[in-house]
Amino acid sequence: MSHQLWGGRFATPTAADMRQFNDSFRFDRRLAEADITGSVAWAQALAAAHLITDTECDTLVQGLNLIRLEFAEDRFQSAPGDEDIHTAVERRLLELVGPVAGKLHTGRSRNDQVATDMRLFCIDAAQTLQAGLSHLQQALLHQAEQHATTLMPGYTHLQRAQPITFGHWCLAYVEMFERDRQRLADARDRMRSLPLGAGALAGNSLGVDRTALAAQLVTAQGELPFTTVAANSLDAVADRDFVAELLFDCAMIGMHLSRMAEDLILYSSAEYGFIELADEYSTGSSLMPQKKNPDSMELLRGKSGRLIGNLVTLLTVLKGTPLAYNKDLQEDKEPLFDSLDTLQLGLRVAAAAVMTLVAHPERMAAALDDAMLATDLADELVRRGVPFREAHGKVGQLVRQAIAQGVSLRQLPLEAYQAVHTDLDQSIYALFDFTRSVMHKNSLGGTAPERVAEQVAAWRQRQNAETIRSKV
Ligand code: ARG
Repeated sequence: MSHQLWGGRFATPTAADMRQFNDSFRFDRRLAEADITGSVAWAQALAAAHLITDTECDTLVQGLNLIRLEFAEDRFQSAPGDEDIHTAVERRLLELVGPVAGKLHTGRSRNDQVATDMRLFCIDAAQTLQAGLSHLQQALLHQAEQHATTLMPGYTHLQRAQPITFGHWCLAYVEMFERDRQRLADARDRMRSLPLGAGALAGNSLGVDRTALAAQLVTAQGELPFTTVAANSLDAVADRDFVAELLFDCAMIGMHLSRMAEDLILYSSAEYGFIELADEYSTGSSLMPQKKNPDSMELLRGKSGRLIGNLVTLLTVLKGTPLAYNKDLQEDKEPLFDSLDTLQLGLRVAAAAVMTLVAHPERMAAALDDAMLATDLADELVRRGVPFREAHGKVGQLVRQAIAQGVSLRQLPLEAYQAVHTDLDQSIYALFDFTRSVMHKNSLGGTAPERVAEQVAAWRQRQNAETIRSKV
């Protein structure tokens, strides 16, 4: 007979299909480290409450640490009755330390246990994602540094709009990924509330001091993940908001990666030719020998679909569950693990692909046209006292004339300009300079090379400060 935690009340064993349907060990074994961290702290809390002796506590902790090692070294042997990570660890503990193992679950339920495990896991995962985002930001900063003065067309509606610098484009994504990093930090703070001690749903009656438990629950890395205790036991066991938040953050990061990928896919096409991805992050065609496809970017764009899907999956699972714990909540794990795995690898690929891409400034410059300076022309009229709305209309007429004559704006004769505004002279032609145009966009946050260089320096400083802080 396999070891089952709850067999006593049952006359007949669970059906094979039901067992397969119910069992989660095949995927929740990933919680092993978190589960053992929680159990070690729980054993100590039981000892502090005099529910077990110090010797019994030591025996349990030693046994748990052996199991921790078995998982870490990938030699944990599962048994047929291992329903989930919690039962598997308890079964193995019994084998290792004997009947005292049966005392570990005193006053604890798998409901507060799994809620604790999930929080520990998510706290760690959020940090890993933050590091992945930092690496991607560094790659973007590297490109921004190289290309602070590289001119390219900026688009709205995917129509050429105004000249910008490629460095400025890079920094736009650095901003997005910074907001993602901050969102993860916020979500992480909310995760640090301890459910353990909430029991099955109503609290525990055995005198376990939850505040002391939170203060001494320490990870194998010596960190103290919990800063507070969950204040309501029903909510403590039923809450999976923190998983949903993390899945939202993953979906948002995925969306940002997808937008960046879409830009780079366009830019790497022959029609644009602005950039070329490294061979390592591209693939070929089995039929057309000439093809070099931006598959890394297409997959980043495509995988954002499952990241959004995983968030919707969990929200849908949660929305109909009555208080407190329901087995539906077990469905939080696979979407979470899938999003984390997808994104951790995706971020690595994205960082490396950005780091190794080669920009082609000459192709970017070739895509600039005079019409993109129409706003500069209007701004010049504004400087000469013409109300902007009027200036806009007049430059619009010049653009129309140029199109009709099949010439560019700078090829229009001076008379055409003077017809618009009498005191315009030859100096107007000096406006047809893309470098001048971007240099003038020197408002805070503008595309002017000096602003881009400043921003890169500020980001570098910020990242260095953070690296130093994380090492202290
Ligand atoms: N495997 C379960 C989960 O992931 C653990 C909690 C089981 N609790 C219960 N009352 N059956 O949610």
